[in-house]
Amino acid sequence: MKTRYWQVDPDNIAPEIIRQAAMLIREGETVAFPTETVYGLGANGLNPTAVRKIFQAKGRPVDNPLILHVAEPREVYQLAAAVPAQAEVLMNKFWPGPLTLIMPCGSRIPAEVTAGLETVALRMPAHPVALALIREAGVPIAAPSANRSGYPSPTAASHVLADLDGKIGAVLDGGITGVGLESTVLDLTEELPTILRPGGVTREQLETVLDQVLLDPGLENNDAKPKAPGMKYTHYSPKADVLVLLGEPQEVAAKAGSILRQNRENNLNTALLLSSETWPLVDKRDAVYAQEMGSRYALEEIAHKLYHELRMCDQAGSRIILVEGYRTEGLGAAVMNRLLKSAGYNIINCSVKD
Ligand code: TXA
Ligand code: MG
Repeated sequence: MKTRYWQVDPDNIAPEIIRQAAMLIREGETVAFPTETVYGLGANGLNPTAVRKIFQAKGRPVDNPLILHVAEPREVYQLAAAVPAQAEVLMNKFWPGPLTLIMPCGSRIPAEVTAGLETVALRMPAHPVALALIREAGVPIAAPSANRSGYPSPTAASHVLADLDGKIGAVLDGGITGVGLESTVLDLTEELPTILRPGGVTREQLETVLDQVLLDPGLENNDAKPKAPGMKYTHYSPKADVLVLLGEPQEVAAKAGSILRQNRENNLNTALLLSSETWPLVDKRDAVYAQEMGSRYALEEIAHKLYHELRMCDQAGSRIILVEGYRTEGLGAAVMNRLLKSAGYNIINCSVKD
């Protein structure tokens, strides 16, 4: 299949391009589009055949349900069987934005979207191109991240094409995404609201409007089964092996330096992704690729760059990627969740002397 490519300026959207892209959606084709988190691979969420094409293109396991994207909060009342009171509060406060809400599923939604579950994931993205596409298509758009299944999510149209060119109908290139990590998935069908996937809206932000927010035990404990089916799969993984280094900048720098020297002797190409604080403390000569990611005390920049830099490490031919780890506060919960999954929980605590 020839994948069509359109560039769109989010500040000055050409209606003709959105019209053509929305027509593809209505015809049952797949279209990748930017959101404020990562690029999504969209299809008509009410058309089972169209939704199946998403799974085929990505090589995604069929038991992993999709998020339905809407352009207005009121659409939720047509899609959910019941809208919990908490959902109304949350939609008011955080939509449009990086928060996905799990609610009881209404009867219009094909089982292909929900993977047969009795719940559905709903989100209104905060990106003008995404909203324009959903509005023009006139249907909710089912969309996972637009990457080959298992690989880091795309934060640029070039990432989408690297993974899916020739396998999808089109890509709308609206530039680089903002948050850089996926939305928070919050389950509202349990007794207490539960985070199934940490993301762009932090637990601390949710707690400003909810009395109590739980974390799915499957997120923290490798033995418990995560409730979001997607969280059980190997994920966000570049081709190289990822190793997470935890500790103070001096400790991380010392460990990174000794691993670099050792890997160099063994001819193992090694890349480095470090905070601005650790960056000046490391001799980078033995690295095939090294990038300063941003301050460890304000993780927005690190989150924004992470997936792109993991891809860059692969392109540089690295076999091992040493990535500095961070505290799991605020956006740190989402950053560390993705890092630990991409590392297969391969982590070194650098403050422990061996
Ligand atoms: O930021 C995002 O959420 C991006 C953009 C494109 O919107 N989308 C995204 O979709 O990350 P995806 O499919 O890569 O991740 C959706 C996650 C998966 O872990 C999936 O298992 C979970 O949400 N999920 C979807 N429906 C669910 C449901 N009914 N119950 C529990 N988990 C669900
Ligand atoms: Mg994904």
